[in-house]
Amino acid sequence: MPDQYAVFGNPISHSKSPLIHAAFARQTGEDIRYEALLAPTDEFAAAVDAFRAAGGRGANVTVPFKQEAYRYATELTERARLAQAVNTLRFNGEQVLGDNTDGAGLVRDITQNLSFAIQGKDVLLMGAGGAARGVLLPLLSCKPNSLTLANRTPHKAAALAEQFTAHGKVQASDYPSLAGARFDLVINATSSSLNDELPPLPPRIIAPGALAYDMMYGKGLTPFLAFAEANHATHLADGLGMLVEQAAESFYVWRGVRPETQSVIALLRS
Ligand code: ATR
Repeated sequence: MPDQYAVFGNPISHSKSPLIHAAFARQTGEDIRYEALLAPTDEFAAAVDAFRAAGGRGANVTVPFKQEAYRYATELTERARLAQAVNTLRFNGEQVLGDNTDGAGLVRDITQNLSFAIQGKDVLLMGAGGAARGVLLPLLSCKPNSLTLANRTPHKAAALAEQFTAHGKVQASDYPSLAGARFDLVINATSSSLNDELPPLPPRIIAPGALAYDMMYGKGLTPFLAFAEANHATHLADGLGMLVEQAAESFYVWRGVRPETQSVIALLRS
């Protein structure tokens, strides 16, 4: 009987995680089964309880349950504690480890798959919601020269930056104040691409050689990536690599084996 894993979300039918983890299992020879489970919006804990009772060994958690998963965990990794959100649960009897692999996935996609060093670079992170919070610590761990957090509602960026002061310097900003600055790496962690919107970026903020990264995937050239292209960004990337890398990191948390990701990214792109 294979070890059971699942991803919980609502909606969940669109999830690519079962495909990704099936590919990881084939490739590594790990004997696991991974399914997508729809949890009613007000019954996340009950759904996970039932899965554990049936022998579930671990789970991924996606929208809208990452905060609930954070509360469900009995132990948290530091990156999950700072993210205040959990996308990976590992069950061991009564103990539930909560982790967050999103930021590690982003950093690995940028530094390994895209071969773009973050260390020493001027980085702009857009957004101050859960997606931005989840990647701040791993980004700071890469020792950028500067990390600017810009948000449409500036006080949210200021509050978020404040919470990370112990881990590195994060400068909060509104969009108009970015005028005149140049960034080597611009990451869109807002939900703007969902609505085909563009954050109100001033022109000329993209430095020569820059990478523009949209954490959204499956939307083609988003308004942000189109802006970056028009402003001569050297590299453009969507969030598909991050999706596969966060999954690989979860797989590693569960199984202690790190799957190869390039072929899985290629599989999803085809
Ligand atoms: P998530 O969990 O995906 O981060 P969220 O917590 O709802 O979602 O946060 C959405 C983020 O996208 C916020 O930072 C939001 O900015 P505000 O705090 O000012 O609302 C940002 N956002 C959404 N649409 C945007 C747009 N068109 N331009 C700029 N920022 C946008």
